[in-house]
Amino acid sequence: MALFRVVYVSEAAGPAASGLMPLVDIIGVSDRNNRRDQLTGVLMRHDGRFLQVLEGARVDLDRTLARVRADGRHSGLRIVDDRAVAARMFPDWAMARVEATPGIAHFLASDFEGTDGEAALDRLLAEIAPAAAGAV
Ligand SMILES: Cc1cc2nc3c(=O)[nH]c(=O)nc-3n(C[C@H](O)[C@H](O)[C@H](O)COP(=O)(O)O)c2cc1C
Repeated sequence: MALFRVVYVSEAAGPAASGLMPLVDIIGVSDRNNRRDQLTGVLMRHDGRFLQVLEGARVDLDRTLARVRADGRHSGLRIVDDRAVAARMFPDWAMARVEATPGIAHFLASDFEGTDGEAALDRLLAEIAPAAAGAV
């Protein structure tokens, strides 16, 4: 099965922008659905913005992203990376909540494009992969 990894950022809206409960709700539903769809990944919130990494088969990713894009708890969803990958980075996580790491501020401050954006994303992913693994 061909695997893809999508990273998007969005602006959290209303109660979803702060507080723990909205995040817990999102993670709960995502965990259930993503298990069913064999999707894995992480969700971070920082400074009123979401960053989510989702990995899996194309058809499942696209169906889920269409649903997520229409969710009123955020807006302005912008896909900042979408690529074929050889292996999952978060194989054990249907959807993990990961605390902000220093790399997220750096990445959000980049324009997500060009070599600066790519380097900032690589740094962020390297930071959060062990964070997710350590949370098992
Ligand atoms: C930032 C954010 C990330 C989300 N991530 C996922 C996800 O990874 N998987 C998922 O199924 N739903 C996710 N959702 C929730 C969907 O938008 C939608 O509410 C949910 O999939 C509906 O599931 P249901 O039809 O089973 O009730 C996310 C929502 C937000 C706001």
